[in-house]
Amino acid sequence: MLATAAFEAFESHLERAVDQLDGASPTKALVRAHFAFDDPSAKRGKRLRPRIMVAVAQAEGAAAETAFPAATAVELLHNFSLVHDDIEDRDDMRHGRATLWKQHGIPAALTAGDAMCALAFTMLLEGPADAERTVAMTACLHRALYDLCRGQGADIGFETSPSVTFGEYLAMIEGKTAALFAASCELGALAAGAAPARAAAYGRMGRAYGLAFQVRDDILGTWGTPAETGKPAGADIRRRKWSFPVAWAMDGPPSRDRDRVARAYSSIGELDDATADAVIAALERLGAHQAADDACDAYVAQAAAAAIEHELDGDGQLAEIFSSTARRTA
Ligand code: IPE
Ligand code: IPE
Ligand code: MG
Ligand code: MG
Repeated sequence: MLATAAFEAFESHLERAVDQLDGASPTKALVRAHFAFDDPSAKRGKRLRPRIMVAVAQAEGAAAETAFPAATAVELLHNFSLVHDDIEDRDDMRHGRATLWKQHGIPAALTAGDAMCALAFTMLLEGPADAERTVAMTACLHRALYDLCRGQGADIGFETSPSVTFGEYLAMIEGKTAALFAASCELGALAAGAAPARAAAYGRMGRAYGLAFQVRDDILGTWGTPAETGKPAGADIRRRKWSFPVAWAMDGPPSRDRDRVARAYSSIGELDDATADAVIAALERLGAHQAADDACDAYVAQAAAAAIEHELDGDGQLAEIFSSTARRTA
């Protein structure tokens, strides 16, 4: 795992990147507020994508700092997607505080997100890689952004779909989440100078890890506690999101509990607390919680197997990141 000193160095790198934005524009203050740079006691993001990128670069024999420009680009792109996602999901809270749009309104938050996206690509273009490698890295991040938009589009579309197949759900999370984890691993390797085929193997490992990560996120969106997640309990169910437990349960054989979930999901608007609680209880009885835990473990095992097959994890840091995701509660 990224050692404390290297992690602090990455945080400074990220903050310096944000400080490139024009200080005369309110957008810079919003981006700083999103990252809570001026509040040392605030809960920050986990920086999981930078952590995995640094671990990959180190596994390829490079110093942690080699991955910082690309890791900053990925973290900015990820946070751009979170700022827009909170608007799309109408979420009021992230990391225990009001979301950017809730504090500053939708137009200003959209613009702050857009600036983060632009800054992300600037960071990549300003990195130390030569021209050919920079083009390959930029193409990789662009592809991930396109996949992320495709996945987010599907996720939003599901909110008004009467039914979603399990396969459609998997394709959605592969886009909205796994694509950026895949790109993170590929970029970490490219930043370290790995050959394209080896970087692509890291990408496949990252995709499996990203699927595990999102399934775990879906478990927390249904069964996580507000103290751990920084979000209201049962948030995904109240919004009638097609997360893993719901997509899995609806794919199963007919039953009273499945009908209960289907009825709630064919209604309009947010579910009230009692209905959301009834849906969560039905999902638990149907075995969706266990199935989600099992799926998360299986994707983690797939990522670990890819690392072993291609000898990607020199000092075991990646295995440590994988297993901590399978157990994460926040
Ligand atoms: C949240 O990602 C969005 C998903 C893709 C599930 P993280 O849980 O990694 O968010 P931060 O970086 O800690 O804020
Ligand atoms: C987030 O998905 C994916 C992106 C932002 C691209 P979710 O909507 O499931 O993530 P959280 O739970 O709000 O972090
Ligand atoms: Mg969301
Ligand atoms: Mg969302």
